[in-house]
Amino acid sequence: MYVCICNAITDGQVANAIGSGCRSVADVFKRVGERPNCGKCVPDLCKMVRSSRGKCAPAMVDAAG
Ligand code: FES
Repeated sequence: MYVCICNAITDGQVANAIGSGCRSVADVFKRVGERPNCGKCVPDLCKMVRSSRGKCAPAMVDAAG
């Protein structure tokens, strides 16, 4: 399932990124080699990162608007 439509990032890619040590949304984007575009996926990515006990930078949530 796509989590980020803009960059065609799937939940599997995000899970793999988190499993590889990513502990922030920025880390996840960096790991998959993409950058946020519209930002609508950021809240969902934050939930996934938080569920792995990572951090979710508030600035990225705000940027999602
Ligand atoms: S859906 Fe991820 S940046 Fe637009």
